Amino acid sequence: MSQSPPLKIAVVGLGFVGLPLSLTYWQSGAEVFGAEIDPGLRQELKQGVTHHLEADAGRPITAILRDALDSGRYHVLPSAGEATRSADATIVTVGIPHRDAVLDLSALQGALREVAEAAGPGHLILLRSTVPPGTTRRDLLSVLEQVGKRPGVDVYAAYCPERIAEGRAFHEFRNMPVILGAFDDASLERARQVVSFVTRASIATTESVEAAELSKVIENVQRDVNIAIAQELARACEAAGVDVFEVIRLANTHERVHLLEPGPGVGGFCLPLALSYFLPFAEANHIETPTLLAARRTNAAVPQVLADRAIAHARLLAPGETPRVAVFGLAMKDYSNDARLSPPVEVCELLASAGAEVRAVDPAVPQSFPWKGESPDWAVDGAHVLMLLSRQHALEQWLAEPAHLAAMHHGALVADARNWFASGAGLQEFGLAYWRI
Ligand SMILES: NC(=O)c1ccc[n+]([C@@H]2O[C@H](COP(=O)([O-])OP(=O)(O)OC[C@H]3O[C@@H](n4cnc5c(N)ncnc54)[C@H](O)[C@@H]3O)[C@@H](O)[C@H]2O)c1
Repeated sequence: MSQSPPLKIAVVGLGFVGLPLSLTYWQSGAEVFGAEIDPGLRQELKQGVTHHLEADAGRPITAILRDALDSGRYHVLPSAGEATRSADATIVTVGIPHRDAVLDLSALQGALREVAEAAGPGHLILLRSTVPPGTTRRDLLSVLEQVGKRPGVDVYAAYCPERIAEGRAFHEFRNMPVILGAFDDASLERARQVVSFVTRASIATTESVEAAELSKVIENVQRDVNIAIAQELARACEAAGVDVFEVIRLANTHERVHLLEPGPGVGGFCLPLALSYFLPFAEANHIETPTLLAARRTNAAVPQVLADRAIAHARLLAPGETPRVAVFGLAMKDYSNDARLSPPVEVCELLASAGAEVRAVDPAVPQSFPWKGESPDWAVDGAHVLMLLSRQHALEQWLAEPAHLAAMHHGALVADARNWFASGAGLQEFGLAYWRI
């Protein structure tokens, strides 16, 4: 009986999405050709090193990467073209950089062109990056036309919005329902086969690729808006002396209500930029979006609210002294190593530019900053304020012994943006004040 040959898949861009996605394909038995343009990152990956904090059923991504490299079925290559030529299908997970919320699609366009030129007969090109609506048609379909390859005839082309959350990637690649959009039935069918190679979740298909692109963008926008609701609720509850987390807990007992929680702001590359993907589409169609713009402004202002609060407490506590602020957690969300567009980083920058002495720690974030150190003891020593901005396991262990905080200035404030201490109980015996967002 003849067996079908294993899938050969190229994954272009081995970042937060592409690395675990490529490893999920490897785990399912595919031969993987990962393309990564960044030589430093490529070198680390080839040595089995990654700073990402993903795990699959408790097995860390580093161990999975090393197993994959040892198997001889997982290759790290420098170019999208080379990876595409080696494979039957290519998934593109290149990100879109931005400056002042303006997107720069040139890296993605370059990668798509490289892949389109290299794709042989019957090759599937699956774009999985989050894109402004219209990108697949303009930057993939038209490039294929330019290189003389007809989608659905010579090659296949489809769009698949990526919906995973960092930290849950392996689980969600297999279990999160998938959306697929393509311009023709044959491409949709081939994309379904390649996606089904790893996913056991449902696959919703559409021949409106723009609808698939928009569905992803609006998923992110609605999370941004929901978090803005929680932030505004938090301010109102604080003024009224009501516990915002209690309000949210009670409201969420309603089966059709799902309020999110307030925090230090909205970070990472997905949510804060979601509106930058949607606005050009709305504006091109002469539609105003006042609600979405207001929500974005609310979330963008939270780091300043937190920094002002810390400086005000320090000035009241120790007039004439330089405010000393310790910060725990720099990642854009709990238990992540991702500090891209991270509100905690912004809080530190605002504090430093307001003249405070900032001492921040986050054992999971690899980047260095002028105000970042290694030791929680160093950070809290003599501090007027300790800000808890994102959780990490090592910091939780350290804080499980609140006596460590006795090293802070008497009367110092613990400003808790992650509901870490819930009530602040136990801090008073160390002469500490407590404020929860
Ligand atoms: N990070 C997430 O949790 C997440 C979730 C859902 C969707 N997304 C979307 O997925 C896409 C990827 O996000 P990410 O967080 O993995 O980004 P990332 O920046 O971590 O990874 C992208 C990688 O692509 C590489 N790259 C750029 N051009 C290349 C080229 N021509 N050839 C090969 N490699 C190239 C970059 O060096 C980088 O390592 C984005 O569109 C993002 O919006 C991300």
